Order: sequence, then structure tokens, then C-alpha cells
Amino acid sequence: MSVEIKILENLEEISLTAARLLIEIGNRAISRNDRFTVALAGGSTPKSLYKLLATEEFKDQIEWSKVFFFFGDERTVLPDSDESNFKTAAENLFKPLKIKAGNIFRWKTEIGDAQKIAEDYSNSITEFFDLTLGAFPCFDLILLGMGDDGHTASLFPMTKAIEITAQIAVANRVEKLNAERLTFTFTTINNADNIIFLISGSSKAFVLKEVLEGDYQPKNLPSQNVEPKNGNLIRLIDEAAAEFLK
Ligand code: 6PG
Repeated sequence: MSVEIKILENLEEISLTAARLLIEIGNRAISRNDRFTVALAGGSTPKSLYKLLATEEFKDQIEWSKVFFFFGDERTVLPDSDESNFKTAAENLFKPLKIKAGNIFRWKTEIGDAQKIAEDYSNSITEFFDLTLGAFPCFDLILLGMGDDGHTASLFPMTKAIEITAQIAVANRVEKLNAERLTFTFTTINNADNIIFLISGSSKAFVLKEVLEGDYQPKNLPSQNVEPKNGNLIRLIDEAAAEFLK
């Protein structure tokens, strides 16, 4: 297990470093298990990473047919909504690389009820990883972003899902958004072999200092709960977001 912080010049450098790490981790997983399981992050930061993976520089560096994509969280919107994390990945990564539908495991938000969507997603992960009851998946890689309130995935400050430990994926009521969100639990996140945070922009600078150098208050700063049990954690941070770090 290792914890590493890389301060990089800008989002472009974060995306380049993340692409190289994803390919390296992915090829190592494929050589070991003949497959690579990766949970993508939502929001806008990872968009440039997704685009980069589909460019000439990276698109032939891994056997995409052996890469299986999941999502660490999702909004309760349909997959064709501009708010959908699935849609962001589909447009910037899956379509350009012609990823087969069988390699993509999205939250089936068309089910409607958030709890039922989360149960369905947990069941599909349990089946894919051939888990026994109560066991958790070990993703080869989970990508995460961080909000300016310290949330990660859809684990927002002072929300119930932060404290749920016995489920793989849950619905989470987020009052500040007046919305139901869908998210991995920290148990699932911390069971990964590799976790990479992508953190870019001055809007994250204050909360990032609190998360990394402030008091331990994981209910108010959920990103502080990301502590892989056995895996590696790398935070890719640009200079703007790192402004207040010592
Ligand atoms: C989501 C994300 C969320 C995101 C952060 C950062 O569904 O919004 O999963 O956790 O990673 O809010 O978002 P940005 O990258 O857009 O700043």
C-alpha cells in the first residue's frame, strides 16, 4: 500500500499522468487476470482524461476488449441526460474507442427508484466479480474527483451514505442538491487495488488543504475517508488546487 501526492502544472498534465497510470495499471491487471476493472469518476475533471485515452497516443496501448468499465457514482438522470456521468464517458471514451456494451456496467437509472437502481447495480457487480454474500469487489482502479465541499463520488458532507459500510452501492439523499444520488460506499472504494484522485482548479484549493492538512473530520470532509485497505492511493493535483498546501 502506498499513498502519493503528485503536484502537476495543470489539468492537461493531470490527464496525461492519469492516462499513463491507467494504461500501466490496466496492462498489469490484464497480464495477471486477463481483465482490467476500472470505475470511472463523474463530474467534469476526468473529461479530458477520457478524450486523451481515445487519441492516437493512447488508444492502442491496451486491449480495450479486456477492460471493464464501471462508475463510482451517478446522478438519478437518464443515460442520455447531459448530467449523466455515463453520457460523459460514452461521448468522450466509449464511442471513440468503440467499447462494446458488454464491457460497460452503468447504473440503470431508467429503473427510476434510487434504492432499486442501487440494489440492481450492487447485484450486477456481485455477479460480475462472482462474490459471495457480503463480500466486496476489488477494482483494479477507481478514479475519483473531489468537490469544493470535500465530497467524493456522491458521498457528500453529513449525508447518510458516508456511514454505510455493509453495501457495495447505495442511494444517497443530498439535501443541498435537493436530489437523490447514487454512489459506491467507502467500503467499496477502499477495497480497490488502486485509487487515483483527479483534483484540478483553484476552487478546490481551500478544501484540499483542509482535507490533507486540517483536522480529521470525515463526516464534514468525506474525501478524508478514502484510505485504501491494501491498495495504492495517488492524488493528482494541479498547482491551482495545491495553492494552499504546505
Ligand atoms: C459527480 C462526481 C463528483 C465529482 C466532483 C468533482 O458525479 O459529480 O462523481 O464526485 O467528481 O464533484 O467534480 P468536477 O470534476 O466537475 O469538479
